[in-house]
Amino acid sequence: MRFGKIVAAAVTAVLFFAANSASAAGIAGSKHDFSASAWSGTQICNVCHTPHNANQAAGQLWNHALTAATFTLYASSTLNAAPGQPTGVSKLCLSCHDGTVALDSFGGATGTNFIANNSAKLGTDLSNDHPISFAYTAALATADGSLVTPASAALVVAGIPLYGTNVECGSCHDVHSPTNGAFLRVSNAGSALCLKCHTK
Ligand code: HEC
Ligand code: HEC
Ligand code: HEC
Ligand code: HEC
Repeated sequence: MRFGKIVAAAVTAVLFFAANSASAAGIAGSKHDFSASAWSGTQICNVCHTPHNANQAAGQLWNHALTAATFTLYASSTLNAAPGQPTGVSKLCLSCHDGTVALDSFGGATGTNFIANNSAKLGTDLSNDHPISFAYTAALATADGSLVTPASAALVVAGIPLYGTNVECGSCHDVHSPTNGAFLRVSNAGSALCLKCHTK
């Protein structure tokens, strides 16, 4: 009887910690957690979001200064899609990753700390990056011939979002979750991420 209770308590504790550690695999401690930098005000979210007086046009209660750059787009003779200048969530990402806006330019302040000059700095030349900010529809899948037909305007397949039919940085990356490495939506082991959309 007593033993049964202890086992039940132990099982409950294991379940509790399992559930807890799943939700703990969030942004804290990731490369998007700037709370250890003096300029962050020791907070995590406020570098990118604010509960009040946000940039309404940018959406997502955005608090970071936006890039004003004009980008060189991906182009190729076999591309069926028509990428445009970065929009939506991609523009939010590029507001640090293009290297033109300081990391600490948020909440109306103009910062001085830019993203390090390494492979995480994509720059304003996106011609050597996977295309973004284009419509991925059933028609595109047909035209290309080796793409998964998207389930809806908001989803390719489970876990891979579209943004009003658009492929954006957020289709492949979850800005808040380092679980799969490189903030990827799913692990790319065996190129599993690529194969969510490409039937190669
Ligand atoms: C480095 C910038 C950055 C930081 C830091 C950040 N976010 Fe976000 N957040 C984003 C971006 C970019 C989006 C839009 C992502 C998308 O739509 O794919 C977003 C979207 C959201 C959304 C709406 C969409 C969703 O995923 O539910 C919520 C809620 C949110 N963030 C909460 C938070 C909270 C809470 C924190 C702090 C614990 C935080 N964010 C920290 C960049 C950030
Ligand atoms: C507030 C600035 C900021 C915003 C906004 C931001 N990032 Fe980052 N991101 C960084 C910094 C700084 C790093 C670390 C770069 C380094 O390692 O030198 C980083 C790292 C990354 C990495 C590499 C992670 C790794 O484990 O190596 C990825 C992938 C990434 N960001 C994607 C995104 C995407 C996608 C978005 C938008 C949804 C985004 N970021 C928005 C600042 C930002
Ligand atoms: C089609 C999927 C896809 C899209 C769209 C995409 N990425 Fe990535 N990204 C990846 C993958 C996969 C990796 C990991 C590459 C690796 O591990 O070598 C990555 C890596 C990165 C890194 C880390 C690079 C490094 O070497 O440190 C950054 C930063 C990044 N992405 C930012 C972005 C931003 C910003 C956008 C939008 C402008 C974007 N990504 C759009 C798939 C994508
Ligand atoms: C969210 C869905 C999605 C994911 C994930 C994705 N792609 Fe794509 N990719 C596309 C779409 C849609 C196109 C545009 C195809 C076209 O226009 O014919 C494209 C274009 C490309 C192109 C350019 C094709 C051309 O004709 O120039 C290459 C190469 C490519 N993707 C490789 C990859 C690789 C490698 C990965 C994994 C790291 C990946 N993609 C992940 C959707 C995706």
